Amino acid sequence: MTTHPVRPSRPGAQNFLPATDSLELLARAAADCRGCELFRDATQTVFGAGPSDAELVLIGEQPGDAEDKQGVPFVGPAGKLLRSALKSAEIDVGRVYLTNAVKHFRWRPAASGPRRLHEKPSQGHVTACRPWLTHELNAIRPKVVVALGAVAAQSILGSKFTLTHSRGQQLDWPADYESLSASALFATIHPSAVLRTPSLERATAMEALIADLAIARQAL
Ligand code: URA
Ligand code: SF4
Repeated sequence: MTTHPVRPSRPGAQNFLPATDSLELLARAAADCRGCELFRDATQTVFGAGPSDAELVLIGEQPGDAEDKQGVPFVGPAGKLLRSALKSAEIDVGRVYLTNAVKHFRWRPAASGPRRLHEKPSQGHVTACRPWLTHELNAIRPKVVVALGAVAAQSILGSKFTLTHSRGQQLDWPADYESLSASALFATIHPSAVLRTPSLERATAMEALIADLAIARQAL
């Protein structure tokens, strides 16, 4: 008799997903997610935050140092800039649901000192974490979704998507997001990209982010 090796289950958040569309229960289950190795070096899962009936969902890349410590998305420097941009675009941040493509902080130690430096999540991490994002979106069914930066946009639109020609335009959902086809999808730059822009051009980059957010607001 031949024996077949047991195939290990595919890694990813789907192994930890409860059968529910309650955001609260999803958040609770995500706290124990071990769908990829990023949980090991992070403090905690940073799930999305905001009203469950939000009409606007903004998706970032992954939590940063401050978010990892506090357990809340967009509370560090990029979050501060994002809140300022939202205000300028006349969007009430209290009515927005903020989340990330990847729910654990990926970092590497600085060459010296205790600082933890942001490291971009790999395609594998984005894929592993995607079930949390799709279930958040399906639980909320917002009118408008804005991906902030290429990592968030590629989580939804695939790894070939580039921001350059598509920012600030309404985008088509891929077939596997059919349940969200009534929502308008946009992509723009990540607030961290504004922070990284050399100071002479930073105001222009900020204005472009605000303009893209204002376009998204008009779709509400
Ligand atoms: N950058 C992100 O993409 N998300 C956060 O929550 C914070 C910084
Ligand atoms: Fe799970 Fe996402 Fe954290 Fe990986 S990054 S352990 S998939 S919640």
